[in-house]
Amino acid sequence: MNMLKQRNRIEGENLKMSTLANIDWDNIGFKYMQTDLRYLATWKDGLWDEGRLVKDNMLSIGECAPALHYGQQCFEGLKAYRTKTGDIQLFRATENAKRFNRSASRLLMPEIPEAMFLDAVLQVVRANAAYVPPYGSGATLYIRPFMLGVGNYIAAGPAPEYLFSVFCFPVGPYFKGGMTPVNFMVSDFDRAAPYGTGAAKVGGNYAASFYPNKLAKDSGFADCIYLDPLTHTKIEEVGAANFFGITRDNEFVTPASPSILPSITKYSLLYLSREYLSLKATERDVLIDNLAEFKEAGACGTAAVITPIGGIQYKGKLHVFHSETEVGPITKKLYDTLCAIQFGDMEAPSGWIIKV
Ligand code: PLP
Ligand code: COI
Repeated sequence: MNMLKQRNRIEGENLKMSTLANIDWDNIGFKYMQTDLRYLATWKDGLWDEGRLVKDNMLSIGECAPALHYGQQCFEGLKAYRTKTGDIQLFRATENAKRFNRSASRLLMPEIPEAMFLDAVLQVVRANAAYVPPYGSGATLYIRPFMLGVGNYIAAGPAPEYLFSVFCFPVGPYFKGGMTPVNFMVSDFDRAAPYGTGAAKVGGNYAASFYPNKLAKDSGFADCIYLDPLTHTKIEEVGAANFFGITRDNEFVTPASPSILPSITKYSLLYLSREYLSLKATERDVLIDNLAEFKEAGACGTAAVITPIGGIQYKGKLHVFHSETEVGPITKKLYDTLCAIQFGDMEAPSGWIIKV
């Protein structure tokens, strides 16, 4: 066995045996919690420094940092899962590294070598292993890598320096019901412009969604559904998650659009539908006037996992899919398959899992 393998094995055993933090894992919700260590690296004069784990959860940046004024920042969201044997694993983290770099390039920020991104994530998860929720609790460790344009630069242009950080905290379900269906409302607002930054995971897209989200919540909905910004006839996204529907002849359908975030969960479900559930699975237009083609619908994403959609409110009418109170059978099967892979109960497609 080579040295690296041996070291990983020993670290792995230590992680497995690490005592868990004293937390009520069943009731943590989706809220920030300060954990022990986070990763911080800086970019200057064309180079990233080595990066390090730090205790302090406060950042010190100049008042004129472009991230603060012009929103030059991007981020990712991924999770670590505790398996039945106590091991810890990441789900499709390489895809997050790739998307992070696409987001960074869109805002003229430097890329992070994929190996550096993954190493930072692994260091942070190992350093905070006590916060990876126990198997069976349903909770997971949410990991948030982000990059900020810093250095004092006031012209509307890219920053002279950058910070890359990764922190993590344990989470429960993003939408309150978990696997109980929730209702959504179609918004009159757009989340992204037709040729804008919708496909990049950048803060500006999210700030723009707070107001429509509040309107939906004030009306009793879990969040809003955005239509395509050009024609307002097709479903784009479900708040901070992608949409999928199951047609009456059992096809998994999810919107194809250049202005939605290309969800890693969505691409995983397209694959699992075809390869594990033997369903036809398609990315195509989803017309808001043709919701009746679906017998089930759901929202999918890292935070949302799979959240069944009970109904969608559009032009004053609520269109109900399978049920407002019970998850449909195909949505449930997709959820069970996805979770079984993420928590290590089912063999994953090659390259999907990284052992911590
Ligand atoms: N859409 C938006 C706007 C999101 O913020 C997210 C969350 O990351 C998703 C979709 C789902 O993407 P993923 O499955 O990669 O987490
Ligand atoms: C995620 O699912 O990882 C997201 O980034 C959504 C966020 C609003 C929590």
